[in-house]
Amino acid sequence: MAVRALWYRPGTLFVLDQRALPERTRVLRLTRAREVAEAIRSMTVRGAPSIGVAAAYGMALAHREGTLSPTAAAKLLRSTRPTAYDLFVGIETVRSAWEEGRDTEEAADAYRAKVVEECHRIGTAGAPLLARAHRVLTHCNAGALATVEWGTALAPIRVARQRGAHLFVWVDETRPLLQGSRLTAWELARERIPHAVIADNAAGHYLSTGRVDAVIVGADRIARNGDFANKIGTYEKAVVAKENGVPFYVAAPWTTFDARRKDGRSIPVEERGEEEVLSLAGRRVAPESSHARNPAFDVTPAKYVTAFVTPGGVVRPPAVARTLARLARER
Ligand code: MRU
Repeated sequence: MAVRALWYRPGTLFVLDQRALPERTRVLRLTRAREVAEAIRSMTVRGAPSIGVAAAYGMALAHREGTLSPTAAAKLLRSTRPTAYDLFVGIETVRSAWEEGRDTEEAADAYRAKVVEECHRIGTAGAPLLARAHRVLTHCNAGALATVEWGTALAPIRVARQRGAHLFVWVDETRPLLQGSRLTAWELARERIPHAVIADNAAGHYLSTGRVDAVIVGADRIARNGDFANKIGTYEKAVVAKENGVPFYVAAPWTTFDARRKDGRSIPVEERGEEEVLSLAGRRVAPESSHARNPAFDVTPAKYVTAFVTPGGVVRPPAVARTLARLARER
């Protein structure tokens, strides 16, 4: 059965602690905006659409608490992680409701429902792309945990399976925090979707020996020209896919598209603490005197993307700007 990353009852946001998976299924109850901010910063809740929804509820909780202004609450939640555009969309959606005197919990609920519905539509739009792709490679976790329900990259896989496709998923382990082996493999195992976890540096081997039919990943921010940020390591998978003639798909809801950003050069890339690289499962794996660098994301140029899978259908990179302009007019 598919999982839900978070849910809300008036005054409390429940989140599945993604740091504890797959060993333990632990649910945390968050009642204050500061707790939500900390959960996002620590990656207890993670994945672009999920942190957008968590932040939306964080704004609603701040409104309830009554100690922060809408601006201060937005500042607190914005300061957690810089790359995923969804975070900022979630915050601004509820901030507008707050400033206009509308019900902030209702606004956060509506935002969550929209994200879930868009991810389901991504599944429907993307499933035909995988009809002939028996072996699909994915990076990081772009499943239900990252998006509340369904997933972005995993949604077409789920829908294709429901339609009878026999898919096998190569799961990049995704160092340093292992979102692939800990989270994506956990989601696939729960649903008995055949898969194998591979070390990040094995993807090129499988791509170059004809054992991957398609690559599908999520995104944290997509610029107008189709350049996009996603988990560190995505860029090299995209380059190797193109080199070997393997289609490379990027699945994302509209909340990930940053229409104000011309291209990927100005997308902020989060740099996280060095301890995440220097240790593995809580144990130091480098000499005490060594230091590390830890960019959490990289930016892949649009020329490596075969197509974006969106709630509105499949969009080729040159059409991203046009699609966004049309959406802005319709809003
Ligand atoms: O650092 P994380 O685990 O939050 O990074 C998540 C990713 O990079 C996902 O691929 C991205 O958010 C898309 S999720 C639908």
